[in-house]
Amino acid sequence: MLNIAVFGSGAGSNFQSILTAVQQGGIPGARIALVVSNNSGAGILGIARASALPAIHLSQKQFPDEGSFALAIRAALDAHGVNFVVLAGYMKRVPPEIVAAYRGRMVNIHPALLPRHGGEGMYGIRVHEAVIRAGETVSGATVHYVDEEYDHGAVVLQRTVPVMPGDTPASLAARVLETEHALYPEALRKIALESAARLTQT
Ligand code: GRF
Repeated sequence: MLNIAVFGSGAGSNFQSILTAVQQGGIPGARIALVVSNNSGAGILGIARASALPAIHLSQKQFPDEGSFALAIRAALDAHGVNFVVLAGYMKRVPPEIVAAYRGRMVNIHPALLPRHGGEGMYGIRVHEAVIRAGETVSGATVHYVDEEYDHGAVVLQRTVPVMPGDTPASLAARVLETEHALYPEALRKIALESAARLTQT
């Protein structure tokens, strides 16, 4: 069983696509156990609450230091039996203690074809500005495992998106976001099927 915690900071459109896939049985054996946001007004919390899912606001600002923030995250994950973490539009650094505790069980989605156009500071519209500035004709989205470095872990799944002549960063971002909404559920389905296969092998 994949007991998933989803972390997000914004509208929650990636979370919505994942939730719909879970509800439709597209990610076998998966359930959303918890939704966490660093932004108390984030759309992602509203989407979770509308589906009566546990949804909490947890921000580094509520804690004196990163260590106590990490303990609070860990306590929330443990309290909800979370065994897999999905970062979906989460704009904060995950404390290293949490990355270490969930090594191989935490993924993120990045709106470009990693390893190109990733790394610290490369998020949101900046990614698409860099892609256009580099004169790329193809961009895309990448789901990858999370490790201590930004946008660096093993790739789970990637999908390409054409960069059209005359694209602005905003028009490219919109096209990539649509692809993200298909890619993330597909990547989580792949992980769920692989983990089920591993369990039946044991
Ligand atoms: C977008 O910038 C997307 O590329 C990145 O997170 C943002 C989407 O946020 N993965 P949300 O899922 O709509 O909150």
